[in-house]
Amino acid sequence: MIPVKTPAEIAIMRQVCRGAALVLQYIESLVRPGVSTLEIDEAARDYMAKLGVESACYGYKVGRLPRFPSYTCISVNEEVVHGIPSRKRIIRQGDVVSLDVVVRDSGFFGDNARTILVEPVSNEVRALCQTGEEALYLGIAQARAGNRVHDISHAIERHVRFGNYGIVDQYVGHGIGREMHEDPQVPNQGAAGTGALLRPGMTIAIEPMINLGTGAVTVLSDRWTAVTKDSKPSVHYEHTVLITDGEAEILTIAV
Ligand code: MF3
Ligand code: CO
Repeated sequence: MIPVKTPAEIAIMRQVCRGAALVLQYIESLVRPGVSTLEIDEAARDYMAKLGVESACYGYKVGRLPRFPSYTCISVNEEVVHGIPSRKRIIRQGDVVSLDVVVRDSGFFGDNARTILVEPVSNEVRALCQTGEEALYLGIAQARAGNRVHDISHAIERHVRFGNYGIVDQYVGHGIGREMHEDPQVPNQGAAGTGALLRPGMTIAIEPMINLGTGAVTVLSDRWTAVTKDSKPSVHYEHTVLITDGEAEILTIAV
């Protein structure tokens, strides 16, 4: 069952997602050589407290996994998603830093992610990022009432395959609202015209994760951090959007 939000719920989602976007925008500005990913995470924690929102990552429990120990996910280079910030992970020139921020407030969730490049980086990494971001917006362009979920997936897949990059299929986008992960799943590949029908009032997180090499990933012994099997870099772009009768409304905007 895919929840359809009421106008009152949508108003709250707008506020919560704006908070998630503000946190992401803030920590993005902190990414520079010499800073540890733990310092960035602590800054996110303090900024969330200032905004009066909670981290949805901190203490997050799924299945038999240990609780997620940090306020944000910071995934560097070959790390794809769910990277655990660490004092030992110092940002260096050339790093590809994916920041993923999920907040909870007033009983609702907002989720967004973006990859930051620490210059100088190679042109091939720059092109990977560009394709990842374009894939997100091409997916969002298909997120409209009357379309089906895999129309989004297909648009993302087409663009990523055109660039000959690897698509991560172990992790997917998702409905979001009163839970961080609601129906439907929003894969980053699929057949157009299939999947659940999109209706106005649905809120979903679209999040292509794409790799310079293989799409295959493996999870480190910390049970959370997903890394590419070939150790090549990965990028991640995500917005929470509202399905309307026309174009989707991007909710994770810091205005
Ligand atoms: N955006 C990630 C997701 O949708 C965040 C997960 S929360 C964490 O899966 F606990 F894993 F950090
Ligand atoms: Co997400």
